[in-house]
Amino acid sequence: MSAISFTPNLQQIPLVVPFFDEPTNTFSYVVQDPTSKACAIIDSVMEIDYAAGHLDLQGADKIIHYIREQQLDLQWIIETHVHADHLSAAPYIQEKIGGKIGIGEHIITVQETFGKIFNEGSQFQRDGSQFDQLFKDGDQYAVGNLQCHALHTPGHTPACMTHIMGDAAFVGDTLFMPDGGSARADFPGGDARVLYQSIQRLLSLPDELRLFMCHDYMPNGRDVEYETTVKQQREHNIHVHSGISEDAFVAMREKRDATLGMPRLIIPSLQINMRAGHLPEADSNGTVYLKVPLDTL
Ligand SMILES: [Fe+2]
Repeated sequence: MSAISFTPNLQQIPLVVPFFDEPTNTFSYVVQDPTSKACAIIDSVMEIDYAAGHLDLQGADKIIHYIREQQLDLQWIIETHVHADHLSAAPYIQEKIGGKIGIGEHIITVQETFGKIFNEGSQFQRDGSQFDQLFKDGDQYAVGNLQCHALHTPGHTPACMTHIMGDAAFVGDTLFMPDGGSARADFPGGDARVLYQSIQRLLSLPDELRLFMCHDYMPNGRDVEYETTVKQQREHNIHVHSGISEDAFVAMREKRDATLGMPRLIIPSLQINMRAGHLPEADSNGTVYLKVPLDTL
């Protein structure tokens, strides 16, 4: 990681439409270039009834419906990281309406780690080849005429990226709303110190940059919220507002993480998301199975 070597183009104001998945408190976004019909999806969700082993794509269908109704041209389907709390619907959406599936290049580290944990065979490629694009820190790309930058913001996971599109940044699980603080950093490959450094990088961006959250858990019973700014985070974030040192953050984060149980859907989520949202190969009877590693996570 290095200092940020570009200035976001705050004159470009994309239309950002959120879709909230209540069972996992996850936001997906459709981000539209203000000058054209080009759009991107950030962090789509495929629902699962884990007890029944049943997959459900109603949420993804709502996004597809919106894109078709608005006659948008889907160019990118972006994952901010390998999520541990919900399954990605990226391949389903791609099959229906196109778009390139992208994630951070350090997905390879995540695939190595979880390939081992799930004892995947050699047919599970650990080179990121399940994705169409592996973003590097500082990569520039476009959604129509909308200028986009990918920033490597690890800590929650090694492959986390923040995507800046005009005056909007999609921060994944680096930050929550100011009253929610920050995401956990205790998954395999996570690191609270690295997360602090990534957050500082985000907080050095322009005050008025809009920040869009991946999750909201409605602290203190308030209504769901998803959008804030760099300035609001710097002034009010309960975990990382200005003046909180790296050591103080790390101590808080590690203490808190030690109290957290694993997310309800971590086992199915990782096995599917490390494959870019594809299911594992079917067994000889044609049924797809997921593994549950005992006493491992
Ligand atoms: Fe996450």
